[in-house]
Amino acid sequence: MRIGIIGAGQLGQMLGLAARELGLEVCYLDPSPAPPAAGCGPVVQRPFDDPDALADMAALCDVITYEFENVPVAALQQIEGRVSVHPPVAALRHAQDRLYEKQLFEELGVPLAGYRTVDTRADLVAAATELGLPLVVKTRRLGYDGKGQYVVRTGDDVDAAWRALRGQALIAEQWIPFDFEVSSIGVRDARGNVRIYPLTRNVHRNGILHTSRSPIDAPGLAELAAAATRKLLEHLDYVGVLALELFALGNKLLANEFAPRVHNSGHWTIEGAATSQFENHLRAVAGLPLGPTENRGHAGMLNLIGEIPAAARELQEGTLHDYGKQPRPGRKLGHITVTAKHAEQRDALLDVIEETVTQSAPVSGKGP
Ligand SMILES: Nc1ncnc2c1ncn2[C@@H]1O[C@H](COP(=O)(O)OP(=O)(O)O)[C@@H](O)[C@H]1O
Ligand SMILES: [Mg+2]
Repeated sequence: MRIGIIGAGQLGQMLGLAARELGLEVCYLDPSPAPPAAGCGPVVQRPFDDPDALADMAALCDVITYEFENVPVAALQQIEGRVSVHPPVAALRHAQDRLYEKQLFEELGVPLAGYRTVDTRADLVAAATELGLPLVVKTRRLGYDGKGQYVVRTGDDVDAAWRALRGQALIAEQWIPFDFEVSSIGVRDARGNVRIYPLTRNVHRNGILHTSRSPIDAPGLAELAAAATRKLLEHLDYVGVLALELFALGNKLLANEFAPRVHNSGHWTIEGAATSQFENHLRAVAGLPLGPTENRGHAGMLNLIGEIPAAARELQEGTLHDYGKQPRPGRKLGHITVTAKHAEQRDALLDVIEETVTQSAPVSGKGP
């Protein structure tokens, strides 16, 4: 069986490596030269919405999936009738626009932060009055890693936020003073079987995922997150892996956003779960039985952003994943996963690795 994957970045690469283990073939569509997944299968180097390339993919593959959520919906609609596309295009449409995403949470009764749509400066002023400050203004489309966002802390920030983001469809949402952030990763197959991974606790820095840990000791929250994830999967008649990001506040969870794909906060599942999110995504889209999602011990993941320091290659503990990408500030280049018997051991290991990796980072500038 051949799986066509739209996008050949690091997520495509990790899908490709899992496919090899399952004996599945993969091929990719990606316009960039030498993308990370190129070693896993042939890459059609064309734009994501190239009709001929999409037609070729539809003809050559048994199923089409995607590794990032900004694939043009119209591109997938072109081939939907000719080949199975998983996850469903409806999931992509909701995930691409923060307004549709929030409306879906509301429809499903999943709690979320108060929000308003913002198309004019007056809308923004009204949102600040009605929702209160601080609030965060976000572009409805194409935001990632905290990009396309502006935090309005005082009335004086309104103009700066408007100047920074005007001209794009926006939403304003209440700033949530969360205790911590979590993500819930679930998978559903075409027969309707659902499996949910143990809850993951995430720390972001500058809007970019920094560390993930799973499981967490919060059974009440895990249950809430699993129920919300299941609702999304079932409502969308979803096939594949989905990741739901939420804010934990006391004994409540507020949904932030979801990704209709494998997710950075689930990378720990490669070493830390009975079946990785990549394998389970492929199993779902290829019509194979899903694998168990239980943890194998306590897992932690540290993202390597901007560079992979030399010390990251010499660690005694932990598994380094190097995506083979050119270093660039703010770019996700790799990650390190640790697993341990106990949460305290996992946390201690992650702390040591973080310190080692940070200390070995080359010092920029001339120094004191
Ligand atoms: N309403 C909010 N309240 C508090 N923190 C927020 C809020 N919205 C976003 N953030 C912070 O910014 C990060 C990135 O925002 P998110 O909405 O997830 O966008 P992205 O698509 O860039 O991941 C979140 O993980 C969280 O740390
Ligand atoms: Mg996010």
